[in-house]
Amino acid sequence: MKEFEKIIGYTAIKNELTQIADVLKNRKVYEDLGIQMPGGILLYGEPGVGKSLMASCFIKASGLTSYVCRKDQPNGDFVKHIKETFEEAAKKAPSIVFLDDMDKFTNSDEERRDSEEYVTVQSCIDEVKGQNVFVLATVNNINKLPRSLTRPGRFDRLIEILPPTGKEAEKIIEYYLKNKKMKLDIDLKSISKILNGSSCADLEAVINLAGIFAGFQREQCITTEHMLEACMRIIYKALPPEEEKEDYLKNLEDGTNLFSRVIYHESGHALIAELLHPGIVSFITIHSRRRDSKGFVTYYNDSTIESLKYAKIRILAGLGGMAALDSKFGIIDSGAKADFDQVFRYMIDLIREDCLFGLHNHYNPTIDTAEKENAVEQLATSQIYFYYQKVKEMITVNHTFLEKMAHQLAKKGMLCTKDIEEIKKTCPLVPIDFL
Ligand SMILES: Nc1ncnc2c1ncn2[C@@H]1O[C@H](COP(=O)(O)OP(=O)(O)O)[C@@H](O)[C@H]1O
Ligand SMILES: [Mg+2]
Repeated sequence: MKEFEKIIGYTAIKNELTQIADVLKNRKVYEDLGIQMPGGILLYGEPGVGKSLMASCFIKASGLTSYVCRKDQPNGDFVKHIKETFEEAAKKAPSIVFLDDMDKFTNSDEERRDSEEYVTVQSCIDEVKGQNVFVLATVNNINKLPRSLTRPGRFDRLIEILPPTGKEAEKIIEYYLKNKKMKLDIDLKSISKILNGSSCADLEAVINLAGIFAGFQREQCITTEHMLEACMRIIYKALPPEEEKEDYLKNLEDGTNLFSRVIYHESGHALIAELLHPGIVSFITIHSRRRDSKGFVTYYNDSTIESLKYAKIRILAGLGGMAALDSKFGIIDSGAKADFDQVFRYMIDLIREDCLFGLHNHYNPTIDTAEKENAVEQLATSQIYFYYQKVKEMITVNHTFLEKMAHQLAKKGMLCTKDIEEIKKTCPLVPIDFL
């Protein structure tokens, strides 16, 4: 249906909504088949994923008059407004009641599931049953609603709207970038990996902020740098380093310099991950998310990597930062605590949950003894030590790659999929059989 054209991607959901809208529009066809008219649908998912947009397309496609109920004013008799909306819709039936952002109907300071507003919605839905009033609702957090409201009978279908990923995300980004003054030397795949899991609203915000950066510098076009900088701010809440960019390269060979250590450390993580699963690194950056950390790498699991392999990659890549500093400057990395915590968590899970080293290690809090806990911890430590030796080997044989990556990172401050591919072209990674 052309009404849904505005929505990019989400083919399966659009088909589902198109079908239900058709039932409302051409009810005679379905009544002749003895079908009961659907009573309502609830769209739920994070803010900005397009629920309100889908709802408004649905209303248009159904051809029915809609009565919107949205809490956009803090005061006033909202319960009365809910009742009146349903009454009005019942008078003009067949019609639609659209409850937008229903989880905001209660006052935020009393988020009670049995609040008067929800009880009212419930009784109104029950009252209009059989009167040809279709109820369409959107919510950000479905857990805020009382179970009685989400159980079958009140809404026929609960449809989850997830943030776009993979090809879908690429399509949406492409759409948003169209008609913008862009001069990007980065491919769609690289951007969509960086934005992976972000909502359309985030995407809009990123492109807007990139435009502000460009305008502020009086540039004619939005460039790759503006886009990446905006992604860092909006999606990862990360800030660029305060140091001058020119200094990164200048000090790169100095192991006492914090930034050279950060650059080699992050390059070490990324090198190991790429070696074990090419394409897994979304980006490497020296932007920082917290005051006490500098730089980070993000990984992209396109759900083709099975969980056991993914956990092993995360352990090995997690040790890569420390191994790179060890190999480059011969120093123990004092900034690797967070990596260690994470590596241990992954390893303990492999031992206890996946029983990688035998079923006897399986976690059972009711009967496990302190001795068993100790044994598991010791096993984890010795395995991590063994993994670390392997990681050092991987870094040694790929020493040139590490250098190239560190130099590029120092030059650009951030590397994405395309940049990593470029380095691989001139210096292929030497694989080591381990996984
Ligand atoms: N799949 C999509 N295709 C096109 N635009 C979208 C899509 N999803 C969201 N948008 C746009 O993103 C913004 C936020 O969407 P909205 O429907 O308000 O989200 P929600 O109701 O889930 O918070 C709107 O400008 C909307 O038009
Ligand atoms: Mg909305």
